[in-house]
Amino acid sequence: MKLRQWTTVGAVAVATVAALNTVPATASRPYDPTAQSLATLGLRHGLHVGTAVNMDALNDASDPQYRKLVTSEFSSVTAENVMKWESLEPTRGSYNWGPADQLVDFAKRNRQSVRGHVLVWHNQLPAWLTSGVADGSISKQELRELLRKHITTVVNRYKGKIWQWDVVNEAVSDPWDTPSTLHYKGFWAEHLGPGYIADAFRWARAADPKALLFYNDYNIEAFGSGNPADDKTQFVYDMTKSLRARGVPIDGVGSQGHLGTQYGNFDTLQVTAALKKFAGLGVATAFTEVDVRSQLTAAVQAGNAEEINPRLQASAANFSVLMKACLAVRSCLSYTVWGFSDNHSWVPGWFDDPPEGLATIYDENYQPKRAYHELKSDLIFAGPPYVQPRVAPKPRR
Ligand code: XIL
Repeated sequence: MKLRQWTTVGAVAVATVAALNTVPATASRPYDPTAQSLATLGLRHGLHVGTAVNMDALNDASDPQYRKLVTSEFSSVTAENVMKWESLEPTRGSYNWGPADQLVDFAKRNRQSVRGHVLVWHNQLPAWLTSGVADGSISKQELRELLRKHITTVVNRYKGKIWQWDVVNEAVSDPWDTPSTLHYKGFWAEHLGPGYIADAFRWARAADPKALLFYNDYNIEAFGSGNPADDKTQFVYDMTKSLRARGVPIDGVGSQGHLGTQYGNFDTLQVTAALKKFAGLGVATAFTEVDVRSQLTAAVQAGNAEEINPRLQASAANFSVLMKACLAVRSCLSYTVWGFSDNHSWVPGWFDDPPEGLATIYDENYQPKRAYHELKSDLIFAGPPYVQPRVAPKPRR
């Protein structure tokens, strides 16, 4: 069902649930929640369920199921790649807006909101920019000005059309980096110093007064030791607190949610506690890139069900932990998966030693996996008094 058609039905449904604390049904056609999409069920809670979108797949006429599911199952979309700097400005000064425009138009037609991804990141930068900095032809001063212009141009183009912007992505190191003490890492910190983060939020706000401006990172689903030297969540929390204290217009923190079944990961209450702690700073939260990968051992690749089933089960459980935590915290505004089907997941191409996969909620033939059904049941079974509708912050000026 298209979201537009849903809106009226959904509004009635929500009103009915609120008023009577019952499920909407008619005598002739009983309400079957399992037949509803993730989008529809999410909006019962005011929660947007989204997906990253691969534009090649969306435009592939031989793969109509991809487009069909993007349209029917999700109420929010994120460009998997086409809003990254290397895609938008492959040659200095000449912009390639086509694919990003197409996604924004697609979302509008389908009444979906858009998460803008991403304004400042150390990856997928255009070669002219990185080589110019490397050979000294772009000075630090010019680099800062190029960043200001990039943010201003991109945010301005989509002004009023983006719900949440990932303004800064992955600015913080990991414990396995050198030095192991957590620090601001990567191209931008190295060349401009960490002050670029506050600058980026201010430039984004100047270009769009209404978009919610997010910091986005991975491995921040739960707190660890609480020591910012080795606890990335604590480091990001302290950074956010300091930005807010200085009046920097940061509205949210996005937790990517790239998990793996080979790790311990977290339980629902740990993740809920982390989201609540961020809420205490006055910022929204969101899960922005959820997938839960597994190692593709020889037995998995040979189709051994005893190896595959526990991975599918563990993957589903992890998807569910993040969903339940998000539902429990009213300022957790959206839950986005990083691709929804294994045939279009970034995981096999990225994690290949050892090979990993099985990371999404549909299999390669678009059959829903246990993870899809778990997300659906989380959305169905959740309700007041513990799960309340979302409350979004006002964009900070
Ligand atoms: C990934 C895309 O999915 C791949 O297609 C691309 O080759 C590399 O980037 N964190 C992010 C995303 O913020 O932008 C990344 O997307 C995945 C990790």
